[in-house]
Amino acid sequence: DGYTALKIFTKGFTYTYDDIIFHPGHIDFAAHDVSLDTKLTKGITLSVPVVSSPMDTVTGGKMAAAMALQGGMGFIHYNNTVEEQAAAVREAKRHVPFCGSAFEPLVVGKDATLADVEQACEGLGLPAGQYPTVLVTESGDLGSALVGVVTTSDVDLLGAGAESRKVADVMSPASALVTSARAAGEDAARAALESSKKGRVPLVGESGECLGVVERKLLKDQLFRYPAALGKPTVNAKGELCVGCAVGTRENDKVRLAALVAEGLDAVILDSSQGDSVYQVEMIKWIKQNYPDLQVIAGNVVTSRQAERLIGVGADALRVGMGSGSICTTQEVCAVGRGQATAVFHVSRLGAKHGVPVIADGGIQNSGHITKALALGASTVMCGSMFAGTEEAPGHYHIAEDGTRVKLYRGMGSLDAMKKGSSTRYLGESQKIQIAQGVSGTVRDKGSVRNLIPFFAQAVKQGFQDFGAKNVKEAHAMLEDGRMRMETRSGAAQHEGGVHDMHSYTKKKW
Ligand code: XMP
Repeated sequence: DGYTALKIFTKGFTYTYDDIIFHPGHIDFAAHDVSLDTKLTKGITLSVPVVSSPMDTVTGGKMAAAMALQGGMGFIHYNNTVEEQAAAVREAKRHVPFCGSAFEPLVVGKDATLADVEQACEGLGLPAGQYPTVLVTESGDLGSALVGVVTTSDVDLLGAGAESRKVADVMSPASALVTSARAAGEDAARAALESSKKGRVPLVGESGECLGVVERKLLKDQLFRYPAALGKPTVNAKGELCVGCAVGTRENDKVRLAALVAEGLDAVILDSSQGDSVYQVEMIKWIKQNYPDLQVIAGNVVTSRQAERLIGVGADALRVGMGSGSICTTQEVCAVGRGQATAVFHVSRLGAKHGVPVIADGGIQNSGHITKALALGASTVMCGSMFAGTEEAPGHYHIAEDGTRVKLYRGMGSLDAMKKGSSTRYLGESQKIQIAQGVSGTVRDKGSVRNLIPFFAQAVKQGFQDFGAKNVKEAHAMLEDGRMRMETRSGAAQHEGGVHDMHSYTKKKW
């Protein structure tokens, strides 16, 4: 009954996720028994198989931290200066894994006024008069001595003229605060939250330097809201959050990479829409010689022929997809690419033979697509549009004409992004006419990735339970030995598989 993937994907058609449907298997375990632990690269393991795209409307330092805190990983874009990209790595790395705040806490110096705080709150999109926990430090940055904390109840009864007052006059001084020492670990931080009954407790380092806040909300999420769906933070051997970056393959990208490695970069993506090039082969060899500990992700590729060369020179993972992304026009403009399901299946098959994991990049529109990518051999998926429009994505929200709260999302090959400098991914240096391979637009406000990722993780676990696969490795074994059965769907079957014949219904949130 049904067909093996090999049969389906060697018929001469190119398919994407919606074209295929899997057959259910036998259930003899609960969904929460499914483990989503997976390899991002040969050397990095994730507890949630999802990473964010290196795009300037998706991943900066804040998103990279949030992704790693949730058990995935983020790849910081390089449509910026070397210094800006290095600062984003630093920003993400500054988060202590068990701090559990995806939000950069607001930090001001001891000489700041309440007007300065109000201005900083506005920058974060917070309504007037609504203070988050504001950390007051000696220098105004995290990493310097904690001087005190300001909260709403320190300021809400001050009345007119309060803006000119110094935070130092109204704050609770450090001596009066409940804090938790990083060295005491996660359990001590939880105990401090429980016994103090505070919403947030500042976390301090060995010399009293302020490292961030531990949030009560995260503890509640872990205990009650998503007890089975939360991933473990992705950390390296030094106990820091793992952070990735994208770079190009030119001489100045070597300088860029050196600055990122100095910040403790864990994995680098060589960013190209067509990765099978002499430039990428040379760059992989150079990185392997100069930074043997750095994980190198090569691509993008869609065929085993392209993948073979990159595997041959030591790629630690392959990024798969060409023209499948929601903002991509490469297939229309350049006439090359492949249906994403077909590409993922064929490249993963080759990758598996060499122990090289595959990242299915682009075209993920719902949790079912994540499950399908993994069941077709990918070890992780990379998402752009799914994470654009979240609180952690760069940029500000604005209200669209129809009243929806939206954020900018654009292809890195769009004219908009290329104007800012991203043309290296899509153009030769000498090209004078810019041909866009992507579009620019907006996406809906999706809230925080802290809510999105547990939702995806739980949905994927349920999909795996339906297949009868307890983990990613088992799903891949079922794919290889033919136990994973599937069929292609006709247009009518796809229509039937979606919501139909309803007068109205509640639209899903994401
Ligand atoms: P999704 O579907 O998740 O896709 O929004 C994100 C992926 O799309 C790729 N990307 C582009 N592809 N033109 C393209 O052809 C572009 O301008 C462009 N920008 C991003 C990229 O692989 C990303 O991860």
